[in-house]
Amino acid sequence: MEFNDLEVEHAYRVLAPRPTIIVTTANSRGEANAAPFSFTMPVSVKPPLVAFASVPSHHTYKNIEETQEFVVNIPNEEILEKLWITGEKFPYGVNEIEESGLSQMESLRVSVPKIAECIAHMECKVHWIKDSGDHKLVVGEVVYADATSDALKEGLLDVEKMKPVLHLGGVNFVVGDHLRKVE
Ligand SMILES: Cc1cc2nc3c(=O)[nH]c(=O)nc-3n(C[C@H](O)[C@H](O)[C@H](O)COP(=O)(O)O)c2cc1C
Repeated sequence: MEFNDLEVEHAYRVLAPRPTIIVTTANSRGEANAAPFSFTMPVSVKPPLVAFASVPSHHTYKNIEETQEFVVNIPNEEILEKLWITGEKFPYGVNEIEESGLSQMESLRVSVPKIAECIAHMECKVHWIKDSGDHKLVVGEVVYADATSDALKEGLLDVEKMKPVLHLGGVNFVVGDHLRKVE
């Protein structure tokens, strides 16, 4: 096989397609925020820990520093366009759940709302946060989780039915074995 050099700063693009989540947070005034993230993974089963990396200037990170809580919402193809809107720049304090036409529901164990149209949710409290180059690595303990009644088949995500969205980069996503571009 022949190999071409990659720019090391962009080598992460071959670590793809990546599961995509929408993280919801709230500031200390209770104003909700939502944004998509694809630098994410589970990092422990017992205790249940999930991680994602955020640029420190993101409102998501600012809110997490303030309240130490967040929700990992699992989106699917049906809400891809709305997910994209949650990723646009809005002034601090603007609720992207509402701006994108999604609806919010109360969480059970954290004071951050979650997105009703998502197929699953993980309510999290910060376990630790560490500097990670130009990002902050946020690890949260999952204190409550749920999924729609048809999301799982024999304990595994029913991907054929649920159509989770995977991020390739920019406007490019993968759903099943198809490439989807956000117009
Ligand atoms: C599909 C997708 C994945 C993204 N993944 C990340 C990520 O992993 N880390 C990050 O810092 N920003 C990521 N972003 C960018 C943020 O979502 C975007 O800058 C957003 O406006 C931040 O919103 P906030 O300031 O309300 O937190 C991603 C954007 C999209 C569309």
